[in-house]
Amino acid sequence: MALEINLKNKTVLITGVTSGIGAGIAKMFARAGADIAGCGRHSRDSDVAKRFTESVEECRAKALYVQTNVTKAEQLQQLVDETISRFGKIDILVSNAGINFFEGAADCTEEEWMKNHDLNLAAHWRLAKLCKPYLQKQQGVIIIMTSNHAFATIPGCFPYNVTKTALTGLVRSLAIEWGPEIRTVGLAPGFIDTPGNQTWFNSFADAAGERQRTIALHPVKKIGTTEEVGAWCVFLASEYASFASGTTYLLDGGRSALLQD
Ligand SMILES: NC(=O)c1ccc[n+]([C@@H]2O[C@H](COP(=O)([O-])OP(=O)(O)OC[C@H]3O[C@@H](n4cnc5c(N)ncnc54)[C@H](O)[C@@H]3O)[C@@H](O)[C@H]2O)c1
Repeated sequence: MALEINLKNKTVLITGVTSGIGAGIAKMFARAGADIAGCGRHSRDSDVAKRFTESVEECRAKALYVQTNVTKAEQLQQLVDETISRFGKIDILVSNAGINFFEGAADCTEEEWMKNHDLNLAAHWRLAKLCKPYLQKQQGVIIIMTSNHAFATIPGCFPYNVTKTALTGLVRSLAIEWGPEIRTVGLAPGFIDTPGNQTWFNSFADAAGERQRTIALHPVKKIGTTEEVGAWCVFLASEYASFASGTTYLLDGGRSALLQD
């Protein structure tokens, strides 16, 4: 029999669906048949929020969008409450929203340190805690989006890399404290083809050349797509990954296997 991942009648809560990786994750869960509650900083009327809803509904799945700043506890509560009132349950949480704080260890201010901490670390824990009773009922799954910066980093990427590393500890604690009812895994993408990374390429005089230079750093000779990250999330949330918990999976096209000479 063909191996198939069917998540019909599952409810997935995904943060940061209005752009990049989160949009790819939403699309792939919808393709697997799941209903999606998504959030982002944009209003419900924004083009990016409408695009999220359309991309889910195109797959005949149901979509709910809630404008949310994940660093605000009361807005996280609202997100969970609206998800429950629309779908009645949460089977899978993909805690994805995050942005780069590339300040450098000497130049990073206390304010930037705290902003990075609130978004790239504390928000993941707070949302997981709010979802816990619902996930427990469903024998659910938590996927936390960390980064290849959790394993190795580049000068100047502090304090982002510090919180992405800390998330691997959060994954371990949730897995051992909340299992077996809830499985928790981390996913650590490397260089993914997102609008943010295109903006990065565009900051070079030769944007196309910089893209090629980046591609060449990867043994697979490409950079990742948001749909590939989404497909990993779908697999990790599925019954086929029922032995996966407490670990963060690196998805970096082999870049970390290559020692610089
Ligand atoms: N792009 C990459 O190459 C890459 C690599 C490794 C890890 N990541 C991680 O993947 C995740 C998504 O990154 P991306 O590149 O798709 O980013 P992106 O900027 O394209 O999208 C970020 C999403 O998060 C949302 N968001 C940001 N701050 C928020 C807040 N305070 N409240 C609610 N929503 C908020 C945005 O609205 C948007 O929907 C992040 O956690 C990032 O660290 C990205």
